Amino acid sequence: MIPLRTERLNLRAFDEGDLRFVFRVHQHPDLARFIPSAVTPDEATARRHLERFMTLAEHPVQGFTVAELRDAVDGRAAGTPVGLIMVKPIPPSGGGEAVDLEIGWRQAPEHCGHGYITEAAGAVLDAVLGAGVDEVVAVAHPDNFPSHAVAERIGMDRVGLTRAYYDTETLLFRRRRAGEGPFPPRG
Ligand SMILES: CC(C)(COP(=O)(O)OP(=O)(O)OC[C@H]1O[C@@H](n2cnc3c(N)ncnc32)[C@H](O)[C@@H]1OP(=O)(O)O)[C@@H](O)C(=O)NCCC(=O)NCCS
Repeated sequence: MIPLRTERLNLRAFDEGDLRFVFRVHQHPDLARFIPSAVTPDEATARRHLERFMTLAEHPVQGFTVAELRDAVDGRAAGTPVGLIMVKPIPPSGGGEAVDLEIGWRQAPEHCGHGYITEAAGAVLDAVLGAGVDEVVAVAHPDNFPSHAVAERIGMDRVGLTRAYYDTETLLFRRRRAGEGPFPPRG
């Protein structure tokens, strides 16, 4: 992952101290409907997530990122973790090698509605594309409107419905590195 700072957030790798946050972030009520595989009823499940989130920390672009507050705000202490961003290969439907790179996000319910995930995901996406990756995709349940809004706010294009990933129908978003469109850049 790429460590970053934004206006309001520090973006850092996961560590052993993040178990409680990992549990909390998976209490978002939308998970049961939109990502049932991520529902986290107990500490053992949270620990399995955390072990996965601690992988890829040394990878130049892929990885799992904690977004935490840089400063105290509205009774929340500096350093409070609010959400997570993931950048990883996306599993193609039907199996086979995962080649496309996916960005995704999850946020603790008590920290939603402040633009934190948009700020974090936008910084991560810019950094990944800036590091030379040609294209990043995001997929969401067709009715997951808060997630669609995040994708569009960080400049991803709404491509349309697809069954290309996760053996299910999702709404696909994509952003390409500047100059990586279907036609050569003008000028
Ligand atoms: C998807 C998810 C992360 C979106 O959370 P969110 O709080 O809507 O996203 P943001 O943190 O970017 O906040 C955006 C909201 O904050 C508001 N906001 C307030 N202050 C803001 C600021 N300074 N800057 C930007 N937005 C701000 C925006 O207007 C927007 O509110 P709106 O939806 O009422 O228009 C959250 O719903 C979630 O965790 N869902 C469960 C997991 C999930 O579905 N993940 C995606 C799988 S595909």
